[in-house]
Amino acid sequence: MNEKEGVRTTALVIDDDPEMVLILGHSLLTHGFEVLTAGSAEEALSAVAEAPIDMIILDLILPGMSGIDFLKRLKSNPAWRSIPVIIATARESAEDVELGLAEGAEDYIRKPFSNIELLARINATLREKKLRNRLENSNSELLRLCQMKDEFLSMVSHDIRTPLNSIVGFADFLLEAKMGDLNEKQARMVDVIKKSAKAQLSLVENLLEVARLNSGRVVLRLRPADLAGIAQECYDGTAPTARKKNIDFIFTARDGIVPVMVDDQRICQVANNLISNALKFTPRGGRVEVDVFREPKGGVLCIRDTGPGIPEEERMKLFSRFEQTRIKATAGESGFGLGLAIVKNIVDMHNGRVWVESRSGEGSEFFVQLPLKEIVSPN
Ligand SMILES: Nc1ncnc2c1ncn2[C@@H]1O[C@H](COP(=O)(O)OP(=O)(O)OP(=O)(O)O)[C@@H](O)[C@H]1O
Ligand SMILES: [Mg+2]
Repeated sequence: MNEKEGVRTTALVIDDDPEMVLILGHSLLTHGFEVLTAGSAEEALSAVAEAPIDMIILDLILPGMSGIDFLKRLKSNPAWRSIPVIIATARESAEDVELGLAEGAEDYIRKPFSNIELLARINATLREKKLRNRLENSNSELLRLCQMKDEFLSMVSHDIRTPLNSIVGFADFLLEAKMGDLNEKQARMVDVIKKSAKAQLSLVENLLEVARLNSGRVVLRLRPADLAGIAQECYDGTAPTARKKNIDFIFTARDGIVPVMVDDQRICQVANNLISNALKFTPRGGRVEVDVFREPKGGVLCIRDTGPGIPEEERMKLFSRFEQTRIKATAGESGFGLGLAIVKNIVDMHNGRVWVESRSGEGSEFFVQLPLKEIVSPN
């Protein structure tokens, strides 16, 4: 079987019983294996270091270093970790075999064993190793491709941002009548151009943001800050949108200042995403509350709305990229399912927690809990 594939499999037999080594070695040789032998764990370690080994048959009771210690050394070395080991045992207790398997041995066989049994075990172990290798290779290839895709997305997004900014800028220019008055129809059309370009711009910004956060290149600038103050600023900034939708928009900070240790700009991004969602999914005439308070475990920002709520089965996926539920925005607002993924990423970086409580038809409450300043640092 080994020669058929064109490459001979090298097996290392480790046993202090010369007779056993002879029997095993002979049997493996006749089945096309390349065989190396070692009478002790120390000898075996030198053999492993010198030549590539495809598999090991290991006796646990050896003079000097024990078979278990040999396994520990082998499996703690990244270069050797993937060499499969079959324990060949006669005298040892079941506990020794259990220990060997726990230390990373792939299988065991009790002496005396038949050639057929041994070969069957070896083949099964080698097959498993091959599959594992294939899986590991596919995994690293997938990771590489995923990285390439992120880089590509990042490059394209970056290049699209420039012309979109020009479109928004020139549309503004026209709407402000800097090139002469527009009639009503023209103004409406330019307004559509501006809004569409802005929606695309926000998608592109979000895509770039997700790629940046995923790359691990974002470094937080942690500083003592007041969570209530940050939330109030975001509340003030989004109040005009709430007014336009005739939403009852309320801010409360029942505990006053809530000192946290955060990157205030990033937390503002979190609050803005949650508030914009609440405003987006709550129908006209509804209510949205921005509530900040303090709990023993941290400062909490809660965004509560009277929107449609989120069905339980859809709550799990909310914080993943590009995931949207069947709940749609109530006034044609756009979105691509990136906001909550960004929120989760930023909150995780702060060692905080974000979660949602909601009942279908009864609104949603999004909570963000962040470390209090005195917990993070005593100064
Ligand atoms: N307050 C809310 N009420 C009801 N559904 C919500 C609420 N917030 C989020 N969702 C649901 O979760 C989905 C994901 O939200 P997320 O903020 O990630 O994306 P989005 O708002 O659709 O797009 P983007 O944030 O990229 O503009 C939304 O599409 C919506 O279906
Ligand atoms: Mg959103």
